Amino acid sequence: MCGIVGYIGKRPAYPILIKGLHRLEYRGYDSAGVALINDQNELTVLKTKGKVADLERYAESKDTSGTIGIAHTRWATHGEPNDRNAHPHYSQSKNLAIIHNGIIENYAVLKTALQKEGFTFQSDTDTEVLVQLIEYVQQNNHCDLCQAVQLALQEVIGAYAIAVIERGNPDLIIAARKSSPLVVGIGEDEFFLASDATPIVEYTHEVVYLEDEEVAIIERNKPLKIVNFKNVEKPLHIKTLEMSISQLEKGGYPHFMLKEIYEQPRTIIDCIRGRINPEGTDVILSGVLDHQEKFLHANRIIIVACGTSWHAGLIGEHLIEDLCRIPVEVEYASEFRYRHPIVRPDDIVIAISQSGETADTLAAVEIARKAGAFIYGICNVIGSSIPRATDSGSYIHVGPEIGVASTKAFTGQVTVLAMLALTIGKLRGSIEPERYHQLIRQLQLIPQKMKTVLGLSDQLADLSKIFTYAHNFIYLGRGYNYPVALEGALKLKEISYIHAEGYPAAEMKHGPIALIDNEMPVIAIATTDSVYEKTISNIQEIKARHGRVVALVTEGNHDVAAMADHVIEIPQVDECLMPLVVSIPLQMLAYYIAINKNRNVDQPRNLAKSVTVE
Ligand code: F6R
Repeated sequence: MCGIVGYIGKRPAYPILIKGLHRLEYRGYDSAGVALINDQNELTVLKTKGKVADLERYAESKDTSGTIGIAHTRWATHGEPNDRNAHPHYSQSKNLAIIHNGIIENYAVLKTALQKEGFTFQSDTDTEVLVQLIEYVQQNNHCDLCQAVQLALQEVIGAYAIAVIERGNPDLIIAARKSSPLVVGIGEDEFFLASDATPIVEYTHEVVYLEDEEVAIIERNKPLKIVNFKNVEKPLHIKTLEMSISQLEKGGYPHFMLKEIYEQPRTIIDCIRGRINPEGTDVILSGVLDHQEKFLHANRIIIVACGTSWHAGLIGEHLIEDLCRIPVEVEYASEFRYRHPIVRPDDIVIAISQSGETADTLAAVEIARKAGAFIYGICNVIGSSIPRATDSGSYIHVGPEIGVASTKAFTGQVTVLAMLALTIGKLRGSIEPERYHQLIRQLQLIPQKMKTVLGLSDQLADLSKIFTYAHNFIYLGRGYNYPVALEGALKLKEISYIHAEGYPAAEMKHGPIALIDNEMPVIAIATTDSVYEKTISNIQEIKARHGRVVALVTEGNHDVAAMADHVIEIPQVDECLMPLVVSIPLQMLAYYIAINKNRNVDQPRNLAKSVTVE
């Protein structure tokens, strides 16, 4: 949510900042801006509403020289997306410029106090309040920029990742974080700063992730220094990035989303690599095996997540209850954090998050920690906040997900949940050895089955043309396929802006069936499983009301074809792994419908990739 880039070194900063903003545009794309200090020590801010390309056009005729700068791409929280509210923001004297991710919760109180001191404001943002506060502190205490930032941040309530530069001080960037990620890249005589590592990886693999309430003093020709608000120096933990630049490119696909859909056979191989023994007979999930006692004695598992990750959590609930016989509750992290939940020390809380930065999920983790529960993270972004806040966990290892609509992260999360359930089930003796081995074999076959469903792309592209102008969609599934129906509906609404709802198929007759007429497309997941017969009855109820049914069935099933308007055949897979395969045609259908409607599938309106504000 919002992207931050910074550079100080020997090269012109502007091209590096612009390239970095393009890489981060998936985090927010309402407006964009840069601040640079040129050779005459002048501080210039250039910013505009719109995307990074709009900023480039705007800056074409302007001075973009200088070897130090900060830049931002915004997802609006305070104030509508326009030129005034775009970052960077100047301080009153225009001596300072700031970029900021997050929310300053007490901005209104601070603003009133500053107004009384004669400060005036050009924007509606909380960020401008912060830069004015830093200037006020600096003027009153006659201190340097770093001290002013340290003192000002002690007055601030909220979440932030910030970077500040100062006119006449072309050798220094001050950056700080609390509950919003920030990473410094260390190059040769140069430093990079960003809200995640994607803009940094093409220049250096050496990075330092800032911790909460740390301030980075990034000074030209000096070693990086990290201090806390009391100016106590902190040790530098330099990490090596494993990401490669090719993972951040589209690789010949027209969109990241399509690339990420097609990557799934490989990302599942990466996800299970090293976690199934070479004989293919055992799952070795070290995050569980290193804490066996916790899993052996757990009374309950609570899964917390948001959005697509919450849908993966619902599948996890089925898997864990089926294979481990431990009661599971799945909670929206945003609800969990505010409803005084009962969490006990013998509970295990599983936090699922692609980005590892979702503010609500992180807050839920903190509540679980305070209650003494053991916390397990299932995340994608290595080194992000949630894995660092948990007791143990498993990365999904699907590589950077750039498309705003989550695809390969969802199947990675479900794969880890399947391995987790198998590992716990074996530990607790709740799974028959034969079923255990059969599921491991099936899991290894998933990438091949995914390739088969990817071969349905022409059929799905054709089908999409029939339904492009529908105004509503209903997605139905039961059992393991109910969360897939929710996920299919979410994908469609996110990127095509068509209203879509997912329901457990049997719930239709309790209300939603009133919506059915000959204009209502119904996507019914009716693969051969323990609830197949029941799902068929539900499809008949829809057909009796003239609904238009697209049925997803298991290969070779001809019965459903007789009642459905369109049939998509999916390879046979054990029912508890079926979500891994059946979700892919739904991702593709949403993609093609959105393309037919000329939507920006990688950056749909109003959304951002990583929701670091609550
Ligand atoms: C949907 C989507 C969102 C995220 C949600 C949680 O396509 O991307 O619903 O799943 O914002 O994000 P993470 O998984 O990063 O916590």
